[in-house]
Amino acid sequence: MSQLSEAAVAQITEICSRYENEPTPLMMILSDIQKEYGYIPLDVQELVSEKTGISVAEIYGVVTFYSFFSLKPKGKYVVGCCLGTACYVKGAQNVIDKFSELLGIKPGETSDDGLFTLDALRCIGACGIAPAVSINGQVYPKLSVSDVPGIVEKYRNGEVA
Ligand code: FES
Repeated sequence: MSQLSEAAVAQITEICSRYENEPTPLMMILSDIQKEYGYIPLDVQELVSEKTGISVAEIYGVVTFYSFFSLKPKGKYVVGCCLGTACYVKGAQNVIDKFSELLGIKPGETSDDGLFTLDALRCIGACGIAPAVSINGQVYPKLSVSDVPGIVEKYRNGEVA
């Protein structure tokens, strides 16, 4: 807990208190923390445990079971490659493999410079423009392997906010 700033402790305490009358508050608390900080490291889990009386083991189990919770900080740019059926049949595996090669990371990893996280996603609701990739919420439609280097360069060069 020593790693957490006073402001973070106060904010997490406030998030825990939002749900003190809920019979099963854990998912709501963790969702709010994930939204606020982007990840839920162990010292935050310990603080949630202290505030709610829920064991760290239970909290850790939930954080690691659900893929939308993250234990580690994500990169500045989160590259979400859809591998749902519609995207998969249109070559999404080759697209994610190309991102993986160029970024030097596997799905679920973050580059050492903190710039990129690569995620493999299930259907993101853009099947009509498959294969689709979402980078920080911006959706790139009908991608082919040859589009990937240009997109990576654009982000590496800071041409995208
Ligand atoms: S399967 Fe990729 S958007 Fe639906």
